[in-house]
Amino acid sequence: MALPELRLPRRAGRRTNLGLLLLLLIAGATGVAAYAVGTEPATRVVVAAHGAAGLGLLLLVPWKAVVVRRGRQRPASTRRDPGAAIALGVVVALAVLTGGLHAVGVTGPWSALGGVDALQLHVGAGVVSAALLAVHVVGARQRPRRADLGRRELLRTGALGVGAVALWGGVEGLLRLTGAPGGRRRSTGSHERGTDDPSAMPVTQWISDSVPADPGGSLEVVAGGRRVRLTAADLDRGDEMRALLDCTGGWYAEQDWRGAELDRLLSDVLSGELPDGGSVDVVSATGYRRRLPLSDARHLLLATHVGGRPLSAGHGAPVRLVAPGRRGFWWVKWVVRVEVVDAPWWVQSPFPLQ
Ligand code: HEM
Repeated sequence: MALPELRLPRRAGRRTNLGLLLLLLIAGATGVAAYAVGTEPATRVVVAAHGAAGLGLLLLVPWKAVVVRRGRQRPASTRRDPGAAIALGVVVALAVLTGGLHAVGVTGPWSALGGVDALQLHVGAGVVSAALLAVHVVGARQRPRRADLGRRELLRTGALGVGAVALWGGVEGLLRLTGAPGGRRRSTGSHERGTDDPSAMPVTQWISDSVPADPGGSLEVVAGGRRVRLTAADLDRGDEMRALLDCTGGWYAEQDWRGAELDRLLSDVLSGELPDGGSVDVVSATGYRRRLPLSDARHLLLATHVGGRPLSAGHGAPVRLVAPGRRGFWWVKWVVRVEVVDAPWWVQSPFPLQ
């Protein structure tokens, strides 16, 4: 197609760059947010915005190609940070490709790539592109202008937004119409793996966490100055909960979990009602930990069994936390201590550092 390429006005190049920057910032922010939210409608809105921003980048490719070609006609000595710019283009393309593959249902893992799956590659590319984007934006700085917030620019930005959402909606519609696996994924983008069949549920850990050689045989509960030690048998109180585990690795499974409801357990230790404020620290044998609001305790279960059988080592035996509505990294495995603390739950890293 003959675009009016080489005579692209300077402002059009600037507009293309600003449009790409905006979409990349939205894709990065919503990508991270997609891991922080676990319940609808937040998941649906955030993941849809992420998909639209990511796919929207494709709409600007013809214009960006012209900007790149025009830049290449300038003497090499006048070009700014060409290395970072090329690397940025490559990793962003990889992010869009791998995000698309995951969404469609071509998820891997691929043994030729060392067992890495599409979503891991995708998040890696997303994180690297954030660093490269910072270098590129500093190197090829463009001063903000009053006209950037003018009516015409806002209309153009709105048109880009509508186009991006339409493209995302078209892809989603196509996935459903064709019956592709991606058409059945959850609003978080996760694919179903092993519902009601715990042995088919993947065993995954957060970044550097791993299945401990000795997960410990008992649980220490600390609350209101009391300290009680319980075995897995003590915790098998027959409390049941059907809950959906949605892992940030891109899969989900719904299971019947059994064990002890956390609020009843803590009330027993305290011999009374739980305090109104405060939090509960849930600590794993590996040192991994998460702090949750104490007011959530009535929705939390310390599970010893799943699908009527004791938990396997990979799934957190002898005791794991079941935290419905929260992404998998909240479901602490191999729990060895539960402690009621005064500190608010949000005084911790939003994502585990282990
Ligand atoms: C340069 C930054 C990024 C770009 C351009 C990008 C782009 C995309 C695209 C195009 C998709 C497929 C959307 C669809 O077809 O519906 C996608 C999916 C996804 N991305 Fe990203 N992404 C980026 C960064 C991230 C980051 C940093 C994370 C998480 C930390 C992330 C998490 C996800 C998830 C969970 C999905 C699956 C959502 C679904 O299946 O609808 N992305 N991304």
